[in-house]
Amino acid sequence: MTRHLTILGLESSCDDTAAAIVRQTEEGTPEILSSIVYGQTDLHADFGGVVPEIAARAHAEKLDLAVFEALTAAQVNLTELDAIAVTAGPGLIGGVLSGVMCAKGLCAATGLPLIGVNHLAGHALTPRLTDGVAFPYLMLLVSGGHCQYLIARGPEEFSRLGGTIDDAPGEAFDKTARLLGLAQPGGPAVEAEARNGDPTRFRFPRPLLDRPDCNLSFSGLKTAVLRARDQVVAEKGGLTRQDRADLCAGFQQAVSDTLTEKTRRAISLYMGENPTEPVVAVAGGVAANGTIRAALRALCEETGARFLAPPLALCTDNAAMIAYAGLERFRAGARDGMELAARPRWPLDKTSPALLGSGKKGAKA
Ligand code: KG4
Ligand code: ZN
Repeated sequence: MTRHLTILGLESSCDDTAAAIVRQTEEGTPEILSSIVYGQTDLHADFGGVVPEIAARAHAEKLDLAVFEALTAAQVNLTELDAIAVTAGPGLIGGVLSGVMCAKGLCAATGLPLIGVNHLAGHALTPRLTDGVAFPYLMLLVSGGHCQYLIARGPEEFSRLGGTIDDAPGEAFDKTARLLGLAQPGGPAVEAEARNGDPTRFRFPRPLLDRPDCNLSFSGLKTAVLRARDQVVAEKGGLTRQDRADLCAGFQQAVSDTLTEKTRRAISLYMGENPTEPVVAVAGGVAANGTIRAALRALCEETGARFLAPPLALCTDNAAMIAYAGLERFRAGARDGMELAARPRWPLDKTSPALLGSGKKGAKA
């Protein structure tokens, strides 16, 4: 029986500065001792998206504090750690560099091993942190920066079945909100408006459904919303509250239908491998959407797979997932040295061709 391991994780690849301590006990149950997240929403609010230079500077300013708070909240000191894990990509390079340099500094000072973690692996391994799910499971990552289907086969072994070729769905929610004068982040705002809307009044496109693969596209959808909005404005001289609600509901339904249909295809590929306990997990901010969540849950019930959505704080960017992914790598014997590089792009599946596109939150894969 291996002794317990305690790992500090750092995350700074986008617009959240995070540090967390995760411990895996002798019984093998991982425990989050602390998880600190400093968001940067206010800093970017005037710019309509994440400004990489502002993000990098804010990470550099907040990382030390986040580490200190994570250690304090966990009542752990540096000497009790077994390793330091850090997001080494993919993401906005200035932010990734801030985290990697901070982790290297801590490792140089303490002599602790350094473990570089792929941010997407952090998301993809979260179902093991929260629910101890066994490999292989199907993972759908849907956020403002990511959108892909992965079969997780091992801590460092993932097969990508498909993903977005342009915008991520969260990005489409954010852009749609902007078009309709709603607050950022757009997802929750659009969802709230959609509650009072008629999803059938505007019929928006369901992109790429004519293609049999698991790839998605969301950039045309926001253009369709823009056209519909302009048409209503041209006809009536402005948008009523009901028009706006109907546009939101129609847009949300289009995203939900597209994700559900592509997920059906991904599940069928996954089920084709005869997993003994099939699990379909989601992560990312868009997984918070009630309509999308309900549609995916119903689909899983229909196909006989267990549906798993981690608590929201672990769906969105956080450092507990990085600490845990680092722990899995550490257990498998992985160690990185001071030559660990920060990578703007870092596909999880080295065998799949690169996805096109790079959104407001950095590279997609
Ligand atoms: O995972 P996340 O916090 O950050 C990254 O993008 O990495 O996801 C944020 C994204 C935003 O685009 C936000 O609009 C979207 O998730 N989002 C939602 C909802 N809550 C957050 N989209 C749809 N419905 C929601 N309820
Ligand atoms: Zn993320």
